[in-house]
Amino acid sequence: MNSDIRVRAFAKINRSLRVLGTRDDGYHELRTVFQSIALYDTVVVRRRRGPFALTVRHATPHGGRGAIDRPSTSPDVSAPPLAADRTNLVSRAAEALWSQARRRGSVRDIAIHLIKRIPMAAGLGGGSSDAAATLRALAGAWRVGDDGVRQAAVRLGADVPFFLEGGTVLGLERGDVLFPLVDRPCAWVVLVVPPFGVSTPDAYRWWDALPGRARRRATPGAADAMGVNDLQDAVVRRHPEIARIVSALTRAGADCAAMSGSGSAVFGLFRSRDAAERTARRLASPERVVRVTRTLTRREYRRLAGT
Ligand code: C5P
Repeated sequence: MNSDIRVRAFAKINRSLRVLGTRDDGYHELRTVFQSIALYDTVVVRRRRGPFALTVRHATPHGGRGAIDRPSTSPDVSAPPLAADRTNLVSRAAEALWSQARRRGSVRDIAIHLIKRIPMAAGLGGGSSDAAATLRALAGAWRVGDDGVRQAAVRLGADVPFFLEGGTVLGLERGDVLFPLVDRPCAWVVLVVPPFGVSTPDAYRWWDALPGRARRRATPGAADAMGVNDLQDAVVRRHPEIARIVSALTRAGADCAAMSGSGSAVFGLFRSRDAAERTARRLASPERVVRVTRTLTRREYRRLAGT
C-alpha cells in the first residue's frame, strides 16, 4: 500500500421492505429489495506509521464524473456530529478485518479519512456502506479473501453484506442472505430527509408495538410491490411528517414513494430527470434536505465504487 486508497461508499434505498416476524436472535425476519443509489461518502485509507486514526469531514454532495448526484436544492440541515472513535462503523470494520487477517494487537499503520455526504439515521445505509467500503479498501492490503471479508461484514451489521454486492438485490432473513436481481431501468430518485433521524432499533421496537391488526397487513403479499415498507406505519405514528412527504411525492407523480429502511428519509422514483428536479424544487424547504440522485446498476456500482 504505497499511496492513498480512495473508495466510494454508495447509499441505498429499500424498494420494498416486508417484516415477516421476529426471530430468536432478537432480529426481525425480512424480505427486502435493496437498491444502490448514486449518493456517496468517500473513504480514504492512508498508510502511515503509528496507531489507527479516523477523521471525519461533513461535506455536501457534488456532481462527480458519471453524474453521481445533483446539488442540494435546499440548505443542509445541520448534521449531527459523527463520532470519529471506535464506535464508528469504519473503525469497527478496520478492527474486524485486522482480526480476520490474524494480525495481533490493535489496528495500526493506517489512517482513514471519511468524507460524509449521506444523511445519517435516515435509512440510507450510510454507516453500513462506509463499513463495507472500508473492508473492500483494506482487503487487498491485508490479503483477506472474499470469504473473510464477507464474514467480517455479517458481524458488523445486517445491512453491511449488501454493500459488498450493490445494484438491485433481494435480502432475506436479517436482510443479509442476498440474491442479486436483474437490473431495473435507471430511475431518478428524489430523496427528502426530514430534520429528525430515526434509530433503527427504535423503528423495529415500534413495529413490535403495533396493534396486531396493523401488523397483519405486514404479512407478505403476492409480490414485492414497490414502495411498500412495513416499518413506515410504525414510524409515521411518531413522525406524521413522513406520511405527508410520501403523499406529496405521490401527488407529484412519483412511480412509487416510501420511507427508506427504518427512516427518516423518504424517496420517490421518477422516470424523467426533469420531473424529479421539478419535484425537488417544489418540496424544498429550510427544514429538510432534498436531493435528486439516481439508481445504480450492479455494473455501475462495481465500476464507480473503486474496488
Ligand atoms: O445489524 P444492525 O446492527 O445494523 O441492526 C441494528 C438494529 O436493527 C438491530 O439491533 C435490531 O434492533 C434491528 N434490526 C432488526 N432486524 C433486522 C435488522 C435490524 O430487528 N433484520
